[in-house]
Amino acid sequence: MKISVIGIGYLGAVHAASMAELGHDVIGLDVDPARVAALQAGRAPFHEPGFEELLRRGLASGRLRFTTDYEELAHADVHFLGLGTPQQADGFGADLSHLRSAIASLAAVLPARDGAATLVVGKSTVPAGTSRSLAATIEQVAGVRLMWNPEFLREGFAVQDTLTPDRLVYGVPDPDVEDDRVALLDAVYAPLLEHGVTRLVMGYEAAELVKVSANAFLATKISFINAVAEMCEATGADVTDVSRALGMDDRIGHKFLRAGVGYGGGCLPKDLRAFLASAEEHGVGEAVGFLHEVDAVNQRRRARVVTLAAEMLGDLAGRRITVLGAAFKPDSDDVRESPALDVAARLLEAGADVRVTDPEALAGAARRLGPERVVAGTEDALAGADLVVLLTEWREYRDLDPATTRRLVDMPRMIDGRNVLDPRQWREAGWEIRSLGRAAAPRGVPSPEATPSVLVPA
Ligand code: UDX
Repeated sequence: MKISVIGIGYLGAVHAASMAELGHDVIGLDVDPARVAALQAGRAPFHEPGFEELLRRGLASGRLRFTTDYEELAHADVHFLGLGTPQQADGFGADLSHLRSAIASLAAVLPARDGAATLVVGKSTVPAGTSRSLAATIEQVAGVRLMWNPEFLREGFAVQDTLTPDRLVYGVPDPDVEDDRVALLDAVYAPLLEHGVTRLVMGYEAAELVKVSANAFLATKISFINAVAEMCEATGADVTDVSRALGMDDRIGHKFLRAGVGYGGGCLPKDLRAFLASAEEHGVGEAVGFLHEVDAVNQRRRARVVTLAAEMLGDLAGRRITVLGAAFKPDSDDVRESPALDVAARLLEAGADVRVTDPEALAGAARRLGPERVVAGTEDALAGADLVVLLTEWREYRDLDPATTRRLVDMPRMIDGRNVLDPRQWREAGWEIRSLGRAAAPRGVPSPEATPSVLVPA
């Protein structure tokens, strides 16, 4: 089939290359000529395992290309909308301006199809009610029908999530009415459906809500265990013990139950806030009011890291702190709402001499904190540190050896903001280590606050 993907950011670019992989003839469009040029040259504009290979395969097959010109996609049978819906500059709601302007540009070229059946499929995350209002515009063009088919891909697993999704959700205007558009979208996803992927057809609003509520639920699960972590800190319990045992109840499960510095990224924080704004607009703000608390717990974890740093160092002014990690999660170069960078900024504000390193996200870190704050390479970043703060759990940091690392720093002090290091092993190697949601020292051992620091320079 002839397919277009409008908006080739993270979601759209992966979707376009995946559709070419399924055998379709795909054209991706973006208003950013630099992005289009990079993709057309086979270069991924972001770090995503497996994507560049997929992109190059698509380009080499002749089934994938990119453009900035809407005229070039006028003849496609199916148009996917992969535009971003960021948080509004002046509120919690989602900014739909990119989506609306894409719909207007598409509507201007579609009459070239002379009324032939054309499917427009929204993939962006939008507040309930958006599809119905966009359909009112785009369906005025003869032959055009709109569906909503939210995307659930995770960064770091984007290719896998697109080609082997947990489920496909199709939003239609009325799920009780036989609808040709379902068969059209089935034809696009035929290889996935043949492999047994479940497809669920539902109303527009339900499809929109599946996506925002999935992200709000994931954020809630993370904040829940982080709230328990606060309780652990107050009582001397170890949150990793609590989490391990909780997750063994298969009604709860282990996933998204890792306590630490909390969630960030381009989706969870803004989708949670957009859900709140949308619920307010529909007069049911109280029903999801607890999501304010979910957001607040998440913010408190970041503040907690700064408090821990101050407990360990006293005055932070002028102290050399190395932050390991800048991306919002490992295997990504995305720094949007990154907890690591937020903590680094707070430490800087407190007067610390902060150095940030990351295997992939240095450019983003330099934009946010200034290039003088960014160091490439873990060893160089650790040199001279009074305190190391691990905030993004890249494998390289999880695998750090305490004895070797000790030789690189000035003072062996560590805050494990993701609970990925074994505190006992680090203590045995002479480190003072604090974690989020874990006691300052094993039971029976006086906590560092209770005793003057006995650390010796490495
Ligand atoms: C998320 C959703 O998972 C995905 O389905 C949706 O399509 C887009 O938003 P993503 O933003 O890629 O995906 O990140 P995700 O893997 O969900 O992680 C979000 C944040 O939560 C990260 O900052 C991560 O470090 C944090 N996290 C995750 C925790 O703090 N604890 C956990 O147990 C899990």
